[in-house]
Amino acid sequence: MQNGDTSVEQAEIGLIGLGVMGSNLALNIAEKGNKIAVFNRTPEATKKFYADASELQGQIIPCETIEDFVAAIRPPRPIIIMIKAGDPVDQQMEILKPYLENGDIMIDAGNANFRDTIRRFDTLKDSGLTFIGMGVSGGEEGARHGPSIMVGGTEESWKRVEKVLTSISAKYDNDPCVAWLGNDGAGHFVKTIHNGIEYADMQMIAEIYGILRDGLKLSAGEIADVFGTWNKGRLNSYLIEITEKVLRAADPVTGKPMVDLILDKAGQKGTGKWSVIEAQNMGVAATAIEAAVAARILSSQKDEREAAEKIFGVPKALAAPADKQAFIDDLENALLAAKIGAYAQGFAVMAAASKEFNWDLPMPTIARIWRAGCIIRSQFLDEITSAFTKDPHVANLIVTPAFSKMVQDTDAPLRHVVSHAILSGLPVPALASALGYFDAYRRGRGTANLIQAQRDFFGAHGFERTDGVDKPHGPWGSGLDIFSK
Ligand code: 6PG
Repeated sequence: MQNGDTSVEQAEIGLIGLGVMGSNLALNIAEKGNKIAVFNRTPEATKKFYADASELQGQIIPCETIEDFVAAIRPPRPIIIMIKAGDPVDQQMEILKPYLENGDIMIDAGNANFRDTIRRFDTLKDSGLTFIGMGVSGGEEGARHGPSIMVGGTEESWKRVEKVLTSISAKYDNDPCVAWLGNDGAGHFVKTIHNGIEYADMQMIAEIYGILRDGLKLSAGEIADVFGTWNKGRLNSYLIEITEKVLRAADPVTGKPMVDLILDKAGQKGTGKWSVIEAQNMGVAATAIEAAVAARILSSQKDEREAAEKIFGVPKALAAPADKQAFIDDLENALLAAKIGAYAQGFAVMAAASKEFNWDLPMPTIARIWRAGCIIRSQFLDEITSAFTKDPHVANLIVTPAFSKMVQDTDAPLRHVVSHAILSGLPVPALASALGYFDAYRRGRGTANLIQAQRDFFGAHGFERTDGVDKPHGPWGSGLDIFSK
């Protein structure tokens, strides 16, 4: 263990929190040739981590005290905090602060709420210290072998960590999946929206799985074949790849498909919900993400759902279409169409937040660093990168030439699949909301004229007229008259 002797070569970076994610990130950093100092609240965890690091030990300085840990890092010191999000991060920062010097950088690499990140950044503003909020995606494997990394903080602090982070990030065709995205909470905000899109993507895949399982009555193995085929086509992505693998796995105890033995109650830790809250705060319609979060909530109400099924039963599914393969092709295209809606919504939320928080978020860069390493990585994100590179400020992804063509090509299958599912009583809230979003977005003359009339009727809220005449109220007198009739 380090004893404060600074004559040894100092570490390029430090990391606090040797849980699974922290350990994997630290090993990744060491493996890429960067010296790293590590510290954990319980020294036993540090000792075990060091002992298990075997051939990477030469790159690791294990420390038992905060003093030794801080002394082991080359100033200005970048220190990654990889612990449970929320209060523990604030507590850890308070513990660290007295040992740090001007220019040192505390880096929160957890799934923090970006509003906490902004607060932490602001708190340190006049202290000489600074703060980076760093979104890290890719789960445990990504942390160990190459995550996608979304950085928010000052440009100067980014310069200090750029080399290390570039070395550990995932690469897409040699292009590192890491970038500085803007000030204070920019990195954590983008990670939050990444997760919101992740929720929508996963929900849509689950809905398609539901149609294949409960509509077409395919077995887990047969559905795995379908996803395996799709993964070779336009839907090629990590989530489709793992869906195939999950569906193929057998339970070691019973030999049955593992997926059939898993309770249908989805967990969630908050990032999806934050995406929806922020979309609403920003006044952006993110219906597919909202539907995905709501679907997880409903999934968790298993007892209530079972009780309701006893009352209502479930509708009889429509007979499978005669040409099963043609329908499966429609499902593939429907998933692609709905996915476009979800991504368009996620990027629209980021565009609005970029203005609101003065981040100047670089849309092509965000799409670029999501192409590898992260959970939503896919070929599709390469196409989004190209679309935003051609037009970084486009109002909506779906009106870019490449994506409008894709939407036109896949619109009919999405309509067919959603209507088939609805008539069969199969819940497809995310697919349907993506379709509803598109139908509302593409229609120049909607129905809000009636809402405006109603608002004016009961509250004299006024409206704008199509003919430009300046007469902002309707001929209904005081709306309250209706009560006297
Ligand atoms: C990632 C994941 C990761 C985590 C999610 C899970 O990008 O690596 O998004 O951050 O798996 O937070 O979130 P839920 O538990 O809310 O599904």
